[in-house]
Amino acid sequence: MSDETQATPPNQRLARLITRQAQKRHLASLWAEVAGLAQGMVVLDIGAGSGALTLEYAPIIGPAGQLIALEPDRECLDYIRTEAARRGIALHVLQGTAEALPSLPAPPDRVMLTDALHHINQPIVALRAIHAAMAPHGILFIAEYDPAGPGVVGAKLSRRTYPNDLAGMLIAAGFKISASANAPDEHYTMIATP
Ligand SMILES: C[S@@+](CC[C@H](N)C(=O)[O-])C[C@H]1O[C@@H](n2cnc3c(N)ncnc32)[C@H](O)[C@@H]1O
Repeated sequence: MSDETQATPPNQRLARLITRQAQKRHLASLWAEVAGLAQGMVVLDIGAGSGALTLEYAPIIGPAGQLIALEPDRECLDYIRTEAARRGIALHVLQGTAEALPSLPAPPDRVMLTDALHHINQPIVALRAIHAAMAPHGILFIAEYDPAGPGVVGAKLSRRTYPNDLAGMLIAAGFKISASANAPDEHYTMIATP
């Protein structure tokens, strides 16, 4: 699904975010493939931002699936809600943080944590909360900017987390690492299971 016509942004900060995240929309299909998104799954997208990637997951999980967007920012949430309604996408929207994960409508089969970890103040607290909320068969998919990259796109180099450090945090939070790989636009991905 691709739709460049977005609802009118309520302010400039949100407008900038919408523009920036729309430029990353092409990554959604790759993230979905690597995470193994499929019809009928419950998918939780943590730190959904403007929802540019979140809403791309809707046709992949289909009407039998359940798409949940978690985001602390009220303006982003209002925008995602409006955009989902405009595009006829059923979306469960939650305001909150990964550290204090609100109760979910169902245990997620997949948790998507893409370009959000470097925004989270207490990553291990967040990863423990995610671990506790996941279905036993679930998968946590993480995409982050690689500190080994040149720093031309994405988060500042100083805010990036090395894959080994992320693996250590995941293990400390109770996860097992099942895969890690380099990915486009200075990213790496990691798959973890509870
Ligand atoms: C760079 S955006 C990532 C958007 C999208 N996931 C993507 O892949 O492009 C990071 C988002 O994380 C949100 N965020 C910040 N702190 C958070 C927290 N503690 N828990 C969950 N999300 C958080 C921010 O509000 C922001 O919308």
